[in-house]
Amino acid sequence: MKPKILVTREVFDDVLEYLSQYFEVTSNQSDIPFDSETLASKLSDKQGAMITLTDRIDTLLLTRCPNLKAVCNIAVGYNNIDLEACRKANVMATNTPGVLDDTTGDFTWTLILATARRLTEAEAYLRAGQWDRWKLKQFLGLDIHHATLGIFGLGRIGQVVARRATGFEMKVIYHDVHRATPEIEQACRARFVSKEELLSLADIVTIHVPYSPETHHLIGKRELEQMKPTAILINASRGGVVDDAALIEALRSGTIAGAGLDVFENEPKFNPGFLELKNVVLAPHIASSSKATRHKMAMLAAENLVAALTTGKPPNLLNPF
Ligand code: DGY
Repeated sequence: MKPKILVTREVFDDVLEYLSQYFEVTSNQSDIPFDSETLASKLSDKQGAMITLTDRIDTLLLTRCPNLKAVCNIAVGYNNIDLEACRKANVMATNTPGVLDDTTGDFTWTLILATARRLTEAEAYLRAGQWDRWKLKQFLGLDIHHATLGIFGLGRIGQVVARRATGFEMKVIYHDVHRATPEIEQACRARFVSKEELLSLADIVTIHVPYSPETHHLIGKRELEQMKPTAILINASRGGVVDDAALIEALRSGTIAGAGLDVFENEPKFNPGFLELKNVVLAPHIASSSKATRHKMAMLAAENLVAALTTGKPPNLLNPF
């Protein structure tokens, strides 16, 4: 008998076909996220699950799923999974590192350019029929070329963003809990600075750290006040790394010039204050969403699940035990 697995959200057909070769698959192709009660009941007789960041895996759920051996996230971030609880329950947890770095880095640049040049604000103006003539001082933006790019977190995605800055002849500075190797610093042409220096020197501050209790509100009122009033903030990492209420206030009062955001606290029910602001570019958590990359993420999660339940050695195991 094939092991039973649950795919909690809609995935590509060929990924389901691949999984069906190994497992009896139940999948939620309707794509409406399960609430925690439904997820626990659907998983109670399953050995494995392919999940997304909308599924919370914690002790309460695990106690109701005695057969569960592996949960495989279709995401590189895994703050939806309590790894310690999984370890205690002998449940392997995996993520999808590597396959989305370039696409997420590209989208970070989409946000940087759109925010610096006020693209969504200008487009809304045009669409509203307000464009009556060319004006010398219309939608004056921030130059990216030769500006200083400040990167929080020089991990895989931070490095992609840094390398793309070369074409704009930018100065790149970064801050991280661990300083990168000289080879990485050289490849990224990035100079290590303190958090305070980064905030005060950068024209563009971009965040590429995982969400954890340590990075909760890494950027709050105090940090926003240390930024230049002409600077912009970009976040394509995780909601909660930025204090959204403090950011809204900073954008309202001119403490900083603008922000480009792909992630929010409590998404998708984000703070409605953002909608009242013109100096913010908003996206619904799509930084990794190219056709090719989302497919690679789903396939890698599936490969992790197959390896976990057949060999016990998934390639992207987060909690060895
Ligand atoms: C990730 O992989 O963590 C992304 O945020 C999912 O879109």
